[in-house]
Amino acid sequence: MKALITGGGGFLGSHLTEAWLACGGQAIVLDDFSTGRETNLASCRRNARLEVVRGSALDAPLVARLVKEAEIVFHFAAAVGVRLVIREPTRTLETNFCGAQTVLDACARLGRKVLLASTSEVYGKGTGAAFAEDSDLILGTPTIGRWGYACSKAMAEFYAFAQAKRGGLRFVVARYFNVVGARQTADYGMVLPRFVRQALDGTPLTVFGNGSQTRSFTHVADAVEATLRLASTPAAEGTIVNVGNPEPLSVLDLAKRVIRLADSASAIAHVDPRASYDQDFADMPSRAPDISRLEKLTGFRPRRTVDAAIRDLLAEAREKTGENSAAEREG
Ligand SMILES: NC(=O)c1ccc[n+]([C@@H]2O[C@H](COP(=O)([O-])OP(=O)(O)OC[C@H]3O[C@@H](n4cnc5c(N)ncnc54)[C@H](O)[C@@H]3O)[C@@H](O)[C@H]2O)c1
Repeated sequence: MKALITGGGGFLGSHLTEAWLACGGQAIVLDDFSTGRETNLASCRRNARLEVVRGSALDAPLVARLVKEAEIVFHFAAAVGVRLVIREPTRTLETNFCGAQTVLDACARLGRKVLLASTSEVYGKGTGAAFAEDSDLILGTPTIGRWGYACSKAMAEFYAFAQAKRGGLRFVVARYFNVVGARQTADYGMVLPRFVRQALDGTPLTVFGNGSQTRSFTHVADAVEATLRLASTPAAEGTIVNVGNPEPLSVLDLAKRVIRLADSASAIAHVDPRASYDQDFADMPSRAPDISRLEKLTGFRPRRTVDAAIRDLLAEAREKTGENSAAEREG
């Protein structure tokens, strides 16, 4: 089966592309490589079943041509990461909503099923032990830039439902909760790769506030496995499904684990995020998924640990440092 994977050059998209090819499928990756990297696809770049197209999910004629070639679409292209979202609000809204609209329109017109990547951020300021898919979305004011990401993703979800009603679109929305693992970059504000970089540099790990806020960190291999199962489960069509690890971990504990696993002498520094992000920052005390719908539909439960993701990121960063030092010695 041939899949179109938008954003396939990014963190999650490249792992999904690899897994799709490993299952024997064909893949077209559409990516503008604005935050993704060609090297993310290094392991499968020579695979004859992979075609990489450099272009934008906003380019309607290109998207229509590629959707037509594919039998299923995974829409992962997006502007992601707190730092990017706050610094580039128009790009965020345009990429995340108009990009989704372009892809969903083409899928509806051409009769292709689409898995739309959404996010736990849409639960916003909601409280409670775990968010179920039918929970209300409680988003903050447009004067705080961070909420633009959640709003643009929530609008894309609404649009999928609207296109299903009007045009018979076949879709499933996957709401991912803090996916972590190799190839994730610290450049756009992701917490775990930043901690790993700080631990290896021996600089303090910067924890926002007292660090008691909890997140549910999901190993990327678990996220990909759940994605593939959802895409092949007819009963999941027309629904929203949380994809995440239900075990919460505080950000302070995450920092301590990174220091321990890296065998680092780094300290922990508690910082005020508004010093970096001004008034555009907002944080949530907790965010954990209720994954009973995912389990019921697919039988899937996450089984990889956050420690495994930390080890993968550490190994990758050490390998890069080794390559750079070797290049410097040779140069
Ligand atoms: N990583 C997470 O924890 C997480 C959590 C929830 C949801 N998600 C969702 O998963 C998806 C992938 O996220 P990620 O973490 O891999 O981020 P990423 O930045 O690594 O991947 C996004 C990819 O989209 C590409 N892209 C951006 N704009 C594009 C455009 N206009 N046209 C084509 N390609 C474009 C980027 O170059 C990049 O390769 C996103 O939709 C994101 O909202 C991720």
